[in-house]
Amino acid sequence: MDTSNSSPVLPISDLLASMVSDVQAGLGHARQKTLPSTYLWDDIGSALFDTITLLPEYGLSRAGERLLKAHGEEIVSRMSAPLAVAELGSGTAHNTRWLLSALCRRQPTTYYAIEVSRWALQRCRAELATIAGLTVSEIPRFYLEGLEDAVGRLPRSHRLLVLFLGSTIGNFERPAADVFLGDLRALLRPGDALLLGTDLQQSEEALLPAYDDARGVTAAFNLNMLARLNRDLDGDFDLRQFCHRAVYEPRHRRVELYLESQRLQRVRLRKADLDVELGAGEAILTEYSHKFDAYEVTTMARRARYRSVAQWRDALWPFAHTLLVPD
Ligand code: AVJ
Repeated sequence: MDTSNSSPVLPISDLLASMVSDVQAGLGHARQKTLPSTYLWDDIGSALFDTITLLPEYGLSRAGERLLKAHGEEIVSRMSAPLAVAELGSGTAHNTRWLLSALCRRQPTTYYAIEVSRWALQRCRAELATIAGLTVSEIPRFYLEGLEDAVGRLPRSHRLLVLFLGSTIGNFERPAADVFLGDLRALLRPGDALLLGTDLQQSEEALLPAYDDARGVTAAFNLNMLARLNRDLDGDFDLRQFCHRAVYEPRHRRVELYLESQRLQRVRLRKADLDVELGAGEAILTEYSHKFDAYEVTTMARRARYRSVAQWRDALWPFAHTLLVPD
C-alpha cells in the first residue's frame, strides 16, 4: 500500500494563530461563551470519539456502518469507472472500509483520507491495510483545502466520490451547512458525487443519552477540549471545575454540548493573552449536533445545487445516507 504523502502537514503556526483568534472571540466578550468544535479533535479527542462509537447509547456510527455494509456495492455501481474516493474527516475509516472493499473488487482505487488527527490517520492506514488494490493518500488538512488538494491530484480520467459521513454536517448551523455544501459543490465536476450521512430526528429520550452516556466517555471527550487549550495556549483550565452538559434544543432540532463552570473562576490562557472570568453555572458552548428529517436533506442539497439520486435509511437507528450529484 502506498501511503506516500506529498502535501505539507498542517502549518502549525497558522493553526495556532486561528486558535488564538477563535478563543479570543469565543471567550473574550461574547455573552454566550463558545469554543469551536474543531478543537475537540486532537489525538486524544479522536481516540475518545472512537470509544464513543462503541457505546450502547451512541447508535449513530453503527447505523452508518450497517448502511455501508448493506449498500456499499450499490453506491459504487451507481458511479462510473474509473473512480476515486475522498473522505472529509476520514477518522479511522472503520465504516468506510465496507465501501472501499466493494469498490476495490471492481477496480484498483485511490482513497484520499482528509484528516487532521495524526492518531486517526495511523489507525486509518492500519484499518485499510488488508484491502487489495487500495492506495491510501493521506491529506492532513481541513475539509475543503484537503478536497482541493485531492481534486488537484486526481487523474483527469477519474470521477470522484466524496464522502461526508457520520453526520458531521450536523456540526454546522443550518445556514453554514448550506454554504459549506455549496463550496463543496464548486469543487465537483459532472459525474462526481457526494455521499452525505445525516442523523435523523428521534425522541429526546432516545437521543440525549447518546450525548451523555453513563460511562462518561462523552464528558471526557468534551472536557478534553480544555486540556487541549491548556497545552496549546499555555492555559490553566482546571478540568475538575467543569461539568459536561448535553441539552436538546427543539427549536433548532439540535443537541448542544456545554462545559459548565462549577464555581466563579478565572482562567488564564497565556499564548492568547487572555484572562477569562466564568461565573458559577456559566456554560461554554462547544458543539452543535443538528438532527435532520429525511426530506430536509434533499431540500438542503437542492439549495446548494445538488440533485438527490438515492437515499438509504437504517431500520434500527434513524440515520440516512443520501447520494447527491451536482445539478
Ligand atoms: C462526529 C460530529 C457526528 O455530533 O454525533 C459525538 C460528535 N459529539 N458525541 C456527533 C460527537 C459528542 C459527532 N459527530
